Amino acid sequence: MNIKDEITKVLQDAAVALGCEAEGLNVTFSNRPELCDYQCNFAMIAAKKMGEKPFDLAEKIVKNIKKSADFAFSAVMPGFINVSVSDCALSNFCNTIAADKHLGVEQVASPRLVFFDYGGANVAKELHVGHLRSPIVGEALKRLHSALGNKTLSDVHLGDYGLQMGLTILQLKEDGHLDAFFGQNTDYENIQLENVTLDLLNEEYPKASKRKDVDADFKKQADEFTLLIQKGQEPYRTIYKKIRELSVVEIEKNYKLLNSDFDFYYGESDAYPMIDTAIQLFVDNGLARESEGALVVDVAREGEHIPIPKKSEDEPQRYKNPMPPAIIKKYNGGDLYATTDIATILMRNKEFAPDEIVYVTDNRQSGHFEQVFRCCKLAGISPETQKLTHVAFGTMNGKDGKPFKTRAGGTVKYKDIVNLLTEKAEEKLKSNGIVGDDELARKIGVGAMKFGDLSNTVAKDYVFDIDKFLAFDGKTGPYIQYTIARINSILSKANFEGGQVCVQTAEERNIALAILKLNSAYQVAYDAYSLNALCLATFDLASAFSTLYNNHKILTEANQNKKAGLLAMCVLVKNCLEKSLWTLGIDSVEKM
Ligand code: ARG
Repeated sequence: MNIKDEITKVLQDAAVALGCEAEGLNVTFSNRPELCDYQCNFAMIAAKKMGEKPFDLAEKIVKNIKKSADFAFSAVMPGFINVSVSDCALSNFCNTIAADKHLGVEQVASPRLVFFDYGGANVAKELHVGHLRSPIVGEALKRLHSALGNKTLSDVHLGDYGLQMGLTILQLKEDGHLDAFFGQNTDYENIQLENVTLDLLNEEYPKASKRKDVDADFKKQADEFTLLIQKGQEPYRTIYKKIRELSVVEIEKNYKLLNSDFDFYYGESDAYPMIDTAIQLFVDNGLARESEGALVVDVAREGEHIPIPKKSEDEPQRYKNPMPPAIIKKYNGGDLYATTDIATILMRNKEFAPDEIVYVTDNRQSGHFEQVFRCCKLAGISPETQKLTHVAFGTMNGKDGKPFKTRAGGTVKYKDIVNLLTEKAEEKLKSNGIVGDDELARKIGVGAMKFGDLSNTVAKDYVFDIDKFLAFDGKTGPYIQYTIARINSILSKANFEGGQVCVQTAEERNIALAILKLNSAYQVAYDAYSLNALCLATFDLASAFSTLYNNHKILTEANQNKKAGLLAMCVLVKNCLEKSLWTLGIDSVEKM
């Protein structure tokens, strides 16, 4: 099913028969598609060892290959081997993958259980622009793993255990919203959080957050409240639970707008029962020490002082700081971000024992995760065989190259962005004669942003350029959606009753080759934890289809066999594009 592997095998056999060590023999897609489909530069590398000129070796290898109807090999100067795949082999490939439930996307040799931690919304805090990339990238990575045959689980890991909860509750109390909880009635469960709405929370938290910076007493009291919540003290715990419930409904709705779905809506606080056990593991193993009343774990490694390159000769040599110790208990006994993450790993390992845990957050948290991972490895909380991965993404910037802000310089709300995308998509649809379909507009608007985001290497900052993302032609989500809609329209008029792909024209060849490249892009994206290769290959396939569409009249093709072949190709392209979009977390649309 994998043409590249077949070609590699043929070449390896021929090279081995000549006495070469052919393990490292590699075949790649051609970078001169006008000359050939695949290429191999093995002879360039192996010639010296064999005491031959590269071209001579390439020729010998080619001569040593039995003629086949599928592949044509030729040696070219200075020593490359070019490979062309026959129309017939491409047809067979297309028909084989059309019948395969994975559409030819190669499955991992031994499926693993991979646990994804992304989203990371904070309870009582409104989602903003900084919360967009994690659900976009995280969801796509999770789907990519599942497309390749891994089992996946996902947890939103709500930020629900930190100072923001103490601050919010303190502010609500001071403003008289929690009086019922601090009176005679101790039946806390049945006291309603009356008048406490999401809108109110969105006012109270920022207010408290500003105040803590200028009012030390307020901050101290908020710290105490936080501790009381963490210790499960009433009525703090119940108030906290009710606020969390309120928030989660909203958070879930917001993630659904982006097609992000989680198996678990756990929060930091759900790891609470594991915290003592986790801390004890550090203490028992002599890994924790006291420092200014706090409990810390040294995670720096020997020889980690990395020299920073000098800018001039006389500059003293400076070294990068080694990893600072991880603080796992605060001076006042409170738990920190690292504590809950460590306890959460312990919990996940007890419950699910995943082979890998993947965290998707912005790159400012890299240090945090490195500390947490090291702690877990040291204490045996994460077994040696378990892979812990932090996928660190860059910032979404405005056109000025600075983090995306409102015109007035404020933080852009998550919901406002989704609304903006939906409105803009609505305008575009209107010019295509489609009005009043909000859900369609959301699918296109959100798809545009996701494709724009995922087209970049994940680690890179990128510019949020809504007009560019939403263009119906270009390397965009809407272009792919439009290609699918176009195929739907052809198929709805065609009365297609099934048939085989039969590659005959240059356009069909290009489509078949684009599918081959798309399928290998899944692997590239998987290895890189970045979807950009998949986006690009999906675009290339859509674009190859457009060329076919422009150059051939599919519906009015008089030769019925040829027409059936073209329609079979339409179905295959549609299925491949839909699979890509699904993997990227983007909706396909029936028409647009
Ligand atoms: N709540 C965190 C934040 O807003 C993100 C959580 C990421 N996941 C984790 N396991 N720490 O920064």
